[in-house]
Amino acid sequence: MDVENRDHIDQLMRAFYAKVIPDAVIGHYFTQVIQMDLEKHLPMIVDFWETVLFGVAKYKSNAVAIHQHLHEKSAFEDKHFTQWVKLFQLTVDELFEGEKAELAKQRALSIATVMKFKLLHQQQGYFGQK
Ligand code: HEM
Repeated sequence: MDVENRDHIDQLMRAFYAKVIPDAVIGHYFTQVIQMDLEKHLPMIVDFWETVLFGVAKYKSNAVAIHQHLHEKSAFEDKHFTQWVKLFQLTVDELFEGEKAELAKQRALSIATVMKFKLLHQQQGYFGQK
């Protein structure tokens, strides 16, 4: 079955966080760096993926700025992004297959790559702003 609607994204994200939260490499960001309330967080993350996969104009926040804030609390390294992408792709493959499932995996990797570049490698002033 492919990812077709908001309910499917909700299902995907619940399965993803079930892997992320106990994860030895990145779980502490959700439990110690911040204490994430999953039920409050899920609607935002589902909005984000509805926007990314279906072009629905729902997610209006700045995800890079939110991760910049996390990065200042506890510095991200390459391994955190690698693990995040790995768990995301694993979760998609366990539950879905098809065009949108492939798109989700591609977008997860490309957004993670851009986010990593901005947070880890982009020096102040590089493109005119931090
Ligand atoms: C190093 C890997 C990552 C870690 C450890 C991580 C961790 C987190 C944490 C702890 C939050 C909650 C922040 C808060 O509520 O204050 C969050 C929010 C979020 N993350 Fe990540 N993240 C990572 C990578 C990514 C990537 C690659 C994406 C997108 C493809 C992403 C998308 C989001 C979104 C959409 C939110 C919600 C932002 C909002 O509240 O508007 N994350 N992340």
